[in-house]
Amino acid sequence: MEEPGWLISYQWGEHPNEATIKEDLQQGYPLVIKNFPLSDEELQSFISRLGTALNERRNNNGKSVFDVTIVRHNNFFTSIANSNLAFPLHTDCADFDTIPNTIGLLCMEPDEEGQGTNTFMLLSSLLNHLTEDEKQKMLGKKWKFGNQLRSILSFEDGNYALCYDRITMESFSRLEVTEIDELNKLDKLFKSLSFEIKLEKGDLILFRNDLMLHGRDKIHTDSKRWIKRIRFDMK
Ligand SMILES: [Fe+2]
Repeated sequence: MEEPGWLISYQWGEHPNEATIKEDLQQGYPLVIKNFPLSDEELQSFISRLGTALNERRNNNGKSVFDVTIVRHNNFFTSIANSNLAFPLHTDCADFDTIPNTIGLLCMEPDEEGQGTNTFMLLSSLLNHLTEDEKQKMLGKKWKFGNQLRSILSFEDGNYALCYDRITMESFSRLEVTEIDELNKLDKLFKSLSFEIKLEKGDLILFRNDLMLHGRDKIHTDSKRWIKRIRFDMK
């Protein structure tokens, strides 16, 4: 997998105004701002100009920034986000009542060995690949994401959106063998359409949670990789 040539990238201080950033993101591509200040306050203040951030209890001070690092308690990782595991391509918060439509990841410290590369798959790549029949099937079939019944592909106000998180789908319901087979095929397809982006220190990557899937490769259990994550709703 190669980093795509079309990736939009700006320098902090030379980036365009919020309206342009929003427009860029609505095209369904990720956008990188390089040399972003390494602080929760700057991140929160910048994001507040783009949309409404999601405050979660487990975040820093219960606000909107979560540190994705390796954290262990009694030899167990405190959450999947705080583990060294690979995350297959997914949508964040797929089981929430309202799914935040945008995510920001600020790289505080890349992995020393260059592991933990971020991966993405664009909805537009998927739509280009699917036949009309396959689209209809994906629009029609509902899956259980916790308490939510949702289709992987949806179509509203003339726009397609994507929602997929196999870990959530498998945690809350017993799937039929044919369904597991279906998801295996989808995972394979998503992976074949995905691309990598290696974040450097100070890179803030912004991307639409409903217009692409994201994941990351495995890291070493002692990795110092440190990413600040912020989820928000951009209108
Ligand atoms: Fe995620």
